[in-house]
Amino acid sequence: MKIRQPAALAAAALFALSTQAHQPDIPADTPPEYIAECGSCHVAYPAALLSESDWRDIMRNLGKHYGDNASLGEETRKLIEEFLARNAEPHWKAHFPSGDPPRLTATLWYRVHHHELPDNILQDKRVGSASNCAACHVKAEKQLFDKTDLTEVPADYGLAEKKAVAQP
Ligand code: HEC
Ligand code: HEC
Repeated sequence: MKIRQPAALAAAALFALSTQAHQPDIPADTPPEYIAECGSCHVAYPAALLSESDWRDIMRNLGKHYGDNASLGEETRKLIEEFLARNAEPHWKAHFPSGDPPRLTATLWYRVHHHELPDNILQDKRVGSASNCAACHVKAEKQLFDKTDLTEVPADYGLAEKKAVAQP
């Protein structure tokens, strides 16, 4: 038994790391301006879900924001840009062929977590777009996306039920 313990501990640590890695951190330095200004039309997306250059791209083009105008005063714009840049995650570089600013829904990270979603779930009128995190994630506004905290939408497509069984 003694010999097995270190391996078991290492496995447990690895497991903890791999599950943590699924959840973006909520940075302690999140300015209230970010939630107020960038959480009014959609949820305030976790800063750790895009790379620094992607966030800077988005923040430089707020006047042409995916067909909307999300312009801000320069002081607030700069404050938010620096916050996002500080907390960005270099791995999540978006691929954005459309000419729009980068999308976190176009990162490998997003695809890995959502590859099971059937195409027609996005056309559901309660969802409308992959960027509408709150349609499926109950605590999206708090930047919490655990797969145990899903709305009834994924369950309607047989997704949440499967997960409930898989949970310990
Ligand atoms: C006036 C409304 C409005 C405001 C304010 C706004 N956005 Fe958006 N945002 C949109 C719309 C509309 C989309 C496109 C949604 C879609 O196509 O699914 C979008 C999309 C995004 C996306 C891409 C989501 C994806 O598909 O991965 C990011 C990132 C984003 N916004 C960040 C921000 C940030 C940062 C701010 C604050 C500086 C902000 N938004 C403020 C309307 C807004
Ligand atoms: C149409 C429904 C839907 C939308 C929209 C959606 N998700 Fe998800 N998401 C899910 C489902 C279902 C799962 C569980 C998948 C699985 O079991 O691996 C999931 C899993 C996740 C996970 C992994 C959770 C875990 O415990 O491992 C994260 C993080 C996540 N989503 C973030 C987001 C973010 C951020 C957005 C918006 C940009 C978003 N999701 C939009 C349905 C959705």
